[in-house]
Amino acid sequence: MGATGATGGATLQSLAALGVPARALSRDPHRLTAALDHRTRALVEPVTADAADPDSLRAAFRGARQLFLTMANGPQQVEHELRAVDLAVASGVEHIVKISAPAAEPDSPVAVSRGHHRVEQHLRATGITATVLRPYAFMQKLLLLAPGVTAAGTILGAMGTAPCNYIDCRDIGDVAASVLTRPEQAGGTYELTGGRAYSHPELAALLGSLLGRPVRSVDLPPAQLHAHLVQRAGMPDWLAAHVVEIQRLAVDRPERPDDAAARLVGRAPRTLEAFLREHLDRFH
Ligand SMILES: NC(=O)c1ccc[n+]([C@@H]2O[C@H](COP(=O)([O-])OP(=O)(O)OC[C@H]3O[C@@H](n4cnc5c(N)ncnc54)[C@H](OP(=O)(O)O)[C@@H]3O)[C@@H](O)[C@H]2O)c1
Repeated sequence: MGATGATGGATLQSLAALGVPARALSRDPHRLTAALDHRTRALVEPVTADAADPDSLRAAFRGARQLFLTMANGPQQVEHELRAVDLAVASGVEHIVKISAPAAEPDSPVAVSRGHHRVEQHLRATGITATVLRPYAFMQKLLLLAPGVTAAGTILGAMGTAPCNYIDCRDIGDVAASVLTRPEQAGGTYELTGGRAYSHPELAALLGSLLGRPVRSVDLPPAQLHAHLVQRAGMPDWLAAHVVEIQRLAVDRPERPDDAAARLVGRAPRTLEAFLREHLDRFH
C-alpha cells in the first residue's frame, strides 16, 4: 500500500532491486506506473484500491501473502489502516509490515502517534506475524524547508537545539524489503533512524557550509510556528498541529540514533550530508 508515497514507493524500488515482484496499490494506478522506473515497472502489478472502499481492498489483497501497510496522515488514517489489517487477515495474508512512528503509545503527546498505537495494538491482536517500523523524521521532508532557505536563508522551527533523528526514506524502503524477504527479521518492532541526530542549528550550519552562504535557524514559540504553517505555508490546521507536536516531542525526549536500520540491512544508513548534497539545487 502507499505505493505512490514516500515509504511505499521506496519499498517498491528496494523490492525490485532484489528482483522481488509486488502488487502495488493506489487510488490512481496511472500516476503510480508513471512514477516507476523501467526495472521496477517490470516487476510491479498495479492495482486500483482505495482504503475507503472495502471491496477494492478485498480484490487487491486476494492471493497476497504479505502486506506493506502505510497510509498518509489524515483524519481517516486510523479507520483506513484498521480496515486494511482486518481485510488482509481475512484474505489470508500471513505477515504485515506496518509503518508507524516514534512514541506510538496510548498517552503519546503526538495525536498521530496515538493513532499508530491503536493500529499497532490491533495488528498484534490478530495473531499473524506483524513487523512494526517506527521511522523518525524523513530526510525527504526537509525539502519543504527549501523555500525558506532560498528566500530568506532561514530554517524555522520550535525545537531549539534539540537533536532530531533524520532517516532517508530509501533506507526505510531497504529495511522494509529486508523484513519482507528475510523471515528471521519478521515480527519485531524497530526504531529507524539515520546514523546521527542533528539539531536545527546544526542542520543550518551543514546546509550553509554546503551552499557556501549563511543559513540561520530561527526558533519560534510553538503557537507562532503553528500560525506560520497555516497562514504562510497553507497547511491544514491538523497538519500544522502535528508538526508542532513532533517538534515539541523532540525537545521533551532528546532523540538518539538507533542501530536497527544498520543491523537489518547490514550497512550504515545514508547520511544527511549526502542527502543534502544530492538535493542542493533545491536550496540555491
Ligand atoms: N513524514 C515523516 O517524517 C514521518 C516520520 C515517521 C513516521 N511517518 C509516518 O509515515 C506514514 C506516511 O508514510 P508516507 O510518507 O510513505 O506516506 P505518503 O508519502 O504521505 O503517502 C501516502 C500514501 O497513502 C496512500 N493513500 C492515501 N489515502 C489512501 C486511501 N484512501 N486508500 C489507499 N491509499 C491511500 C496514497 O496512495 P494514492 O494517493 O496513490 O492512493 C499514498 O501513496 C504516516 O503514517 C506517518 O505517520 C512519517
